[in-house]
Amino acid sequence: MTAAPIQTLSRRRVLPVGENGSLWEARTSPSCGVFEFRGTRLWLAVEDPAKVLFPTDCGLSLIAALNDASTPELTGVNALDIGAGSGVYSVALLAAGAERVTALDINPASAAQTMANVVTNRLDATRLKCVTSPLEEYAPDEKFDLVITNPPHLPYDPSYARCDGLEVALVARSNGRAMYDAVVDQMDTLLAPGGTLLMAHSSLADVPKTVKEFTARGYGSGTLGVFEMDIPLLAYAEHRDTMLGLLEEQREAGRAEFDGSRFTVHALMFRRPPSGV
Ligand SMILES: C[S@@+](CC[C@H](N)C(=O)[O-])C[C@H]1O[C@@H](n2cnc3c(N)ncnc32)[C@H](O)[C@@H]1O
Repeated sequence: MTAAPIQTLSRRRVLPVGENGSLWEARTSPSCGVFEFRGTRLWLAVEDPAKVLFPTDCGLSLIAALNDASTPELTGVNALDIGAGSGVYSVALLAAGAERVTALDINPASAAQTMANVVTNRLDATRLKCVTSPLEEYAPDEKFDLVITNPPHLPYDPSYARCDGLEVALVARSNGRAMYDAVVDQMDTLLAPGGTLLMAHSSLADVPKTVKEFTARGYGSGTLGVFEMDIPLLAYAEHRDTMLGLLEEQREAGRAEFDGSRFTVHALMFRRPPSGV
């Protein structure tokens, strides 16, 4: 059982060196910005960026890729935003006409921030449901038409482990793949047959592995865009050498791609085969 192939667009955007945040249309403060999504201007703010990640260019690259693509259709979908953080994707989906959005995050601070951003944008908050749970333990009694996610992608090391929302947003075990692996494992449970998964996938966390695993499950896959940018090491400046050393080991093993301090984010689209195909 395989899904129809998805058109691959070979657009590559090179974002400025030494800058994170170039994909915002405007910034009104370090943790408040404006972005456009399919014709609507939207606001996004984070009250405490140490508790909830203010969206980076990595997350915004999927927004930019979806602005350039005519698919998927978002009107009327029942969507799941995995690792919602500030709710940037939940806000975008509701603004684009999603019927319902479930914003899931392991970080309890995400729910209030996501709701606040939905309300600020005067979107219908009754269409949003926030769930605090690790993806690995999330077992809803429904399947979604669309799933969207931007998993943490930096490798874990005890020498720089810290206990805050930034850590859980950026760093993951299994060499940065823990949440990617959970997304692969859970997708048949969460996504309806024929449904779409949208993913901002870091080149530091083995893009080919994820594509191979979904292909083996019969999913169609395509690339909506590729964005080159700086590795976001600012929050880990004093551990830069340790982190780059771990990434180099991954690169030598063929599990990471980067050049100096530059890496790429792949805006990927997967489609689960319709039932009976
Ligand atoms: C890179 S951030 C993305 C946030 C937001 N979607 C964006 O693009 O700005 C990853 C998010 O995943 C959440 N997260 C990390 N591990 C998780 C898990 N096991 N289950 C659910 N959420 C998780 C983090 O709390 C964080 O909000």
